Parts: sequence; C-alpha cells; structure tokens
Amino acid sequence: MANMAPEKRIKELREKLHKYNTAYYDNDSPLVSDYEYDDLMRELIGLEHDYPQFQSPDSPSQKVGGTALAAFAPVNHKRQLLSLENAFSKEDIAGFLTRIEKSGAKPVFTVEPKIDGLTIAVTYKNGKFFSAATRGNGVTGENVTANAAVIKAIPQMLKEPLPELTVRGEVYMPKNNFVLLNQEREEDGEPLFANPRNAAAGSLRQLDPRITARRRLEVFFYDVIAGPEYQSQHELLDRLSALGLPVNEERKVIGSLDEICGYLEEMTQKRHLLSYDIDGMVIKLDPIPQRELLGTTVKYPKWAIAYKFPPEEAETVVEDIIIGVGRTGALTPTAVLRPVFLAGSTISRATLHNEDNIREKDIRIGDHVYVHKAGDVIPEVASVIKNSRTGKEKIFSMPRFCPECGSPALRPEGESVRRCLNIDCPARLYESIIHFASKPAMDIDGMGPGVIRKLLDSNCINNIVDIYDLDKEKLLKLEGFAAVSAEKLLSAVEKSKERPLSALLFALGIRHVGEKAGKVLSSSFPDMEHIIAADKDTLTAIPEIGEIIAQSIIDYFRSDSNRELVKNLEKHGVNMLGQPIIPAGKQPLSGLVFVITGTLENMSREEAKALIEHNGGKTSSSISKKTDYLLAGANPGSKLAKANELNVPVIDLKRLQAMLEPADAN
Ligand code: IVH
Repeated sequence: MANMAPEKRIKELREKLHKYNTAYYDNDSPLVSDYEYDDLMRELIGLEHDYPQFQSPDSPSQKVGGTALAAFAPVNHKRQLLSLENAFSKEDIAGFLTRIEKSGAKPVFTVEPKIDGLTIAVTYKNGKFFSAATRGNGVTGENVTANAAVIKAIPQMLKEPLPELTVRGEVYMPKNNFVLLNQEREEDGEPLFANPRNAAAGSLRQLDPRITARRRLEVFFYDVIAGPEYQSQHELLDRLSALGLPVNEERKVIGSLDEICGYLEEMTQKRHLLSYDIDGMVIKLDPIPQRELLGTTVKYPKWAIAYKFPPEEAETVVEDIIIGVGRTGALTPTAVLRPVFLAGSTISRATLHNEDNIREKDIRIGDHVYVHKAGDVIPEVASVIKNSRTGKEKIFSMPRFCPECGSPALRPEGESVRRCLNIDCPARLYESIIHFASKPAMDIDGMGPGVIRKLLDSNCINNIVDIYDLDKEKLLKLEGFAAVSAEKLLSAVEKSKERPLSALLFALGIRHVGEKAGKVLSSSFPDMEHIIAADKDTLTAIPEIGEIIAQSIIDYFRSDSNRELVKNLEKHGVNMLGQPIIPAGKQPLSGLVFVITGTLENMSREEAKALIEHNGGKTSSSISKKTDYLLAGANPGSKLAKANELNVPVIDLKRLQAMLEPADAN
C-alpha cells in the first residue's frame, strides 16, 4: 500500500475515513478501533503534507479527527460580527421606529425570534462546508470547525455550489435535549447546566468533537457575513432556506408600531410552545440597501434592535419538601408548591436538585419563594423572599435513610448526591426496570412504567430476572391483559434476549455506562465474562474508557448480587456475547492466552490448539492469572477448579468459534 501512487492512496484513505466518520458520528457505531482510525488519519495527513497539490478542504483531515491541529485557534472574521442593542418596552421600540423614520428609510421590518444559543459563523466554499468559528469578541472568534462538522443540522453541502458563503447563525440545544442531559448529569452527580444556552456553549466548545456529536445541537441561520448581496432580510432568509440551511419559521415582515407590538405579544405567549428557548425578538430593517442610511455604532447596527422578553418569575409558597429515589439510588429533593401559573403552565413542583442547593438558598418549608423555569422548562426555586418569613418556617434536612426502604442513604465525600445503598430498594427497582425495558436498553415493547407498576404491585415480578419468568397465566391475572396483549408482551420479552451486549450493558444501569460506553465495551471484549473479569488497567487501556467509567464497572461487578443478576440473565438465554471489532490485519485471538482441558466435542485438543494459534492466540498447559480463558470440554478435571478460583472465564468450543467470527459493529 505504501508504494501506491499518492493520489490514489489519498483518495482511498479519504473514502475509508469518511465511511468511518459516518459510522461513528452519524450512526454511533464505529467500524474500526480508534487506533486504526488514528493510523489511517496520520497516514493521510502525512501524504497531504508531502503532496500539497492534493490538499482539499473537504478531506476528513480538515474536519473531525484533525481537532488537535486546529482546536480553538483564533480566527479573524471577514466582517465584524456585531451585537444588538436591547429594547425592554413598547417605548423603546417606538424610539427605534422614530430613528428609522428620521433616517428616511422605509419602515418595513422583519421580526424574528432571538434564539438563546451562541453565535456561529459557518463558511461554505463551492457549496461545501469549509470552516466554522464562534463569535468571540466579534472581530476574532475561535475555530470550531471540527465540532461544527459533527453537528448534523449544519449541512455539509449547500443545494447550490455558491463559490463562497459565510453565514451567521445561532447554535442551540432543544429544550428536551437539555432536560435529558441535565437528568443524566444529576444522576451522575455532575454539575448541571443552568440553561440550554450554557449547555449548547459547553457542547460546542468541546475539545473532543464526539461529545459535541452526542449532544444533538441544532442551528438557525439569519445573516450573511460574506457572499451574495440580497435586497431584503426576508429575501435573504428565503434564499438561505432554499440553500438547505435551517432558518427559523417564526418570522414576519411588518411595518407599524402596533403590528410589531402585536407580534411581540403573540410570540411572548407562543415562546413556551416552541421546542427551543428564545429570549426575545429581533426587529430588523427589511430593505438591506437602506441600512446604510442608519449605519452602526462600534458595537451595534442602528438598523436593528432586540426586544428582550420580561424575565418570568412567579411568587408562591413551599408547602413541603419531598424526596424521590432514582434508579441509581439518588435521593432528589422536590419542593411541593402552592400551584402557580408560570411561563405557559401551572406548576406545583420544583426541583431542588440537592441538599447543597437547599442550604445555599436557605429554602425552608413554608417559605415564600420566587420560582422560574430553567431553560424555559424545569421549574426551579430561584430565591427565598426572606422578608415574608414569620418564624414558623421549618428548616429541612435530607434524610439519612431512604424514605422508600429505610436503608442507609449516604453521601460519598466530594459528591453532591446522597444515595440509597440498597439495590433491592423498591423505588430503585421500579426505576431500574423502567430503564432496563426501555427502547435503547432491552427494548421490551409494551413494558412501560404503567405495566411495570402493575407487575410489581401484583408480585408478578420482584426483580429484573423475573421478567424472563413471566408467562401467559401470570399476565392474564392482571387488569388490562387479554390473550393477545399477553402474547405480544411475552414475545417482546423473548426478543429482548437477542439484544446486543451493548444494550444489556446499558440496561443494567451501571453508573456512567451509557449507550456509547456499552458499545465501546461490547466491541472491545468477546463477552460479558471478560468484562466482569477485566481489571482497571485493562479497562482504561480502551481509548474511550476513562478512570471514572472503569471504576464504576469494577464497583458494579464487585457486588455479588449484580454478578448473580447477570448469571441468571444468562441462564434465561439473554445474549452475553460481545461483537469485537477486529482491526484489519489483526487476528481475532491475538493477545489472548488459552488453556485447554477435558474432552472437546468433535475436535481433538491438538486441533483446538492449532485453531487458537492459527487465529493469533497462545496456549499454555497450566492456569495462572495470565490465562484469559479455559477452554473446557467434558470431564474437565482440576483445571476447572483452578480457573474458578482465579476467576478465569471458562468457555466451550461453541463460544471459541463465536469469537473467531468478526461481527459487524453493533
Ligand atoms: S442579528 C448585525 N438575529 O443575539 C446582526 N441575532 O444579543 C446582529 N441572536 O449576538 C445579530 N437570534 O448571537 C440576530 N435572529 C437573530 C438572533 C440573533 C439570536 C443573538 C446573536 C447576537 C445576540 C445579540
């Protein structure tokens, strides 16, 4: 390959890396190991360096993977990215309109939402995505090309190959993604993002674009920094949209003060129904050539203004503080509120996050408080109105025992979350089963929270394994089940046994092991037994597995009941085989040491030895800590006992053969 003509090899490498990128970033399922990916990328960068005539902006080396080269280098914008002056009232807008009229410009305006995200400037060359930068100070921004390249909402190709176009827009995180992200972070005891804007900024400015890719950011474009000149803002937006760039639909072209104020009022109500956060509306002079009549200050254009929505807060009373217990045992305090209307809905609960938050804000039962919605969705207690205190308010302290099962609830040093330590806690069990059966986990169709509640209350199931002992007779006794629905549920349970190991690893609810870590683990180990047996060094040797995930996996499998759970699932036929990705040129058993014992089915031990060695493995005659597997047939003798003693996984011939078949990435 090294002797191949450079142009041909560059093309081949680009195609391969492009395919691997799509699998990794778009489908979340890698086709090759990181090592192999990095090797190919290095080779490509080397060739492009040696043969600059073949360089191209759409080479994978210029996008993802090339992060280290260009992460957040400063870039000068082609034109200053101005900010906007704020308006807070009808009077402010009337003043703006008067200035426009005085300038002699035609008072026609495009009014569009002010997206609460962060500015991005994206450049396309010949219709292809080329680079991206944050606003920075308006003159110089940061190069975030690698990260923008993995945001699906930013098209890689325009529908027309314009020679050059730089568009300005706002990257944001939809409200529901923000809620999910914070839920995960709360469970993991990580600091929460205050609002979708912070979450979007934190996700875009990541040194690792894979994190950006996972956070599912969106974008709306609203301005052209360099490129064709358009006659009006509304034409500009229509043109960007026709090029395939996402443009906000909530825009209107209007003229009079009354019309503008009417639309602002309409959007003040409607904002809560949108799937993204807006913090105001931007009023822009529509005819672009006439903007010159007004000009700009050093910071703002004089032809536009941002109307900021009034902050939404409501006053109410904390009637009680209750504790919920999550799947990982996290105790979460919630304020029970006197119902109050806020930002589009009546709220009667507000999250208090954790005990530190309650203490810092000094929130007491009976307090009058201001509530707001974080990111326009999650009701939170913003502050206590201390003047309203009567002295009857009760100081709250977190329970030292789980309110559901009475087991000790401990708060490890350095963490903000107190957790119930009893893995059989009914509240934890309920949440765990919901998670276990959910779509990205074991995907048991029809086993939602309602059905799970019924199954638990009727003692049809008392733990996760019981799901696999359900039968028609048991289900038919439950309210709401008939022959057809029972059969449907049972077949979904049966089907879940074939879920990939990655899904099972996620389903177990091991802290810090999300869908992605599940996939990485299942593609790095031949089976569950190897994951259970892996020590910290083995786990952290996997590029995507850091100390925290590794420790969490070890802690999880240290527990007898967790190992028992996995063993029982296996007995019920749940798939435990991984799908190792074998780098090209690497043999499936390389690095593994086998010991063979007992009488194998249809194969002599010599033949098995040859098979192992042929596939890159090694064999040894005695079991030690270095042995990876004991391949055991009938009448295994003392080696089996030794293997069990040393925790060496025992496999049969069928399992060995399965390890030789490279599977597609799951
Ligand atoms: S126009 C010269 N339009 O709001 C053009 N800005 O507070 C100036 N923003 O820095 C920007 N949505 O990041 C414009 N539809 C929109 C916007 C918008 C959000 C942001 C932008 C700007 C900030 C000013």
